Amino acid sequence: MSFSAVEVIAAKRDCRTLSRAQIDWVVDAYTRGEVADEQMAALAMAILLNGMEPGEIAHWTQAMIDSGEVLDFGDVGRPLVDKHSTGGVGDKITLPLAPLVAACGAAVPQLSGRGLGHTGGTLDKLEAVPGWRASLTTDEITAQLREVGAVVCATTPTLAPADKRLYALRDVTGTVESVPLIASSIMSKKLAEGTGGLVLDVKVGSGAFMKTLPRAGELADAMTAIGAAHGLPTTALLTDMSRPLGRCVGNALEVAESVEVLRGGGPADLVSLTVALATEMLALAGLPDADPAAVLASGAAYDVWERMIAAQGGDPSAPLPVAAHVETVVAERSGIFAGADALAVGTAAWKLGAGRARKEDPVQAGAGVRLLVDPGDEVRPGTPLAELHTDDDARLPTARRLLAGAALMITTDPPPERDLVLDVRRGS
Ligand code: URA
Repeated sequence: MSFSAVEVIAAKRDCRTLSRAQIDWVVDAYTRGEVADEQMAALAMAILLNGMEPGEIAHWTQAMIDSGEVLDFGDVGRPLVDKHSTGGVGDKITLPLAPLVAACGAAVPQLSGRGLGHTGGTLDKLEAVPGWRASLTTDEITAQLREVGAVVCATTPTLAPADKRLYALRDVTGTVESVPLIASSIMSKKLAEGTGGLVLDVKVGSGAFMKTLPRAGELADAMTAIGAAHGLPTTALLTDMSRPLGRCVGNALEVAESVEVLRGGGPADLVSLTVALATEMLALAGLPDADPAAVLASGAAYDVWERMIAAQGGDPSAPLPVAAHVETVVAERSGIFAGADALAVGTAAWKLGAGRARKEDPVQAGAGVRLLVDPGDEVRPGTPLAELHTDDDARLPTARRLLAGAALMITTDPPPERDLVLDVRRGS
């Protein structure tokens, strides 16, 4: 069936519900180039302003899935389960989580992206490992899932191509922040990837897309509803992103911190969230009796990490890249360190060279921020609070400015305990 783009735009402008046929047509015609960018931009803005019903969101997601290939990893001998994070600062959880869940008996097909702006991308982090290769064929992914149990690699160009075009358009038309568009974008890629279960880590706070719990809850509910409509068991954890996760932000720095976790150490917040997400993934994979905390402590997840990295050409024992310049930021007054602001630290790491402003920009593997104190630690004038790492010392003053003042908070009272998991939403 064929429609006019103007009619579809006008329907959403006038707050009407789009029919399944209208949605199928407009997404397909946009992917083929028949609907122009300016028409899709107008429709995306109408969706942002007027929203979509749950049924419309489910159809929109299906149309995006249908724009490309649906992967089928066949029988890899283990239940398939995946995780998606909406993105945060220091969010390196995939690195310890995928090998951990594989070490507990499931298979994790994690097709990931690169970072843009102040949140880092998983592929950028892993590319800090000498020799590691992000691009795999479907046959290579299947073989690695069977033999190792965990794959982290680049998404294929044929997976939800409508989303690739639409996401780039939203990025330049002020329409990224629409819950129906974010939810369908994320879920179309995860559904096309062919996972059997999905855990969503919906970040909340200054360093996240969603700054407040109600907005994050709205996104989590939209995504779990899409999962339910498509028969994909989906659980969403709403987790705190007002502070960075762990102490390190930046590609090689985050790989090193993830390895600490895989060796049974690492910062408590990182370990606790890794185990919480693994527990949910293993429940969806039908392995509720697995004990991820014990498996992490045993070193079994580290063995899977080594095999996962080596299977993609990486050398897990090679030294990681280090930045040419390291500068220390010190406390200017006495008190108790109350925590670092996630957005400020993420932006500082980005400006030091760990992230990119445009998707074609290169990233520095060694750049980033390492925090040297934990919330609750006493500090005095001169106590080292953080290190700034970069290959380009002209970037240091901007990062220094971003971390001045309240970004590295010093108070007189101890900070309250941090609740990492703020809420859980399950698809029904
Ligand atoms: N991540 C995605 O994949 N899509 C969005 O729309 C936002 C974040």
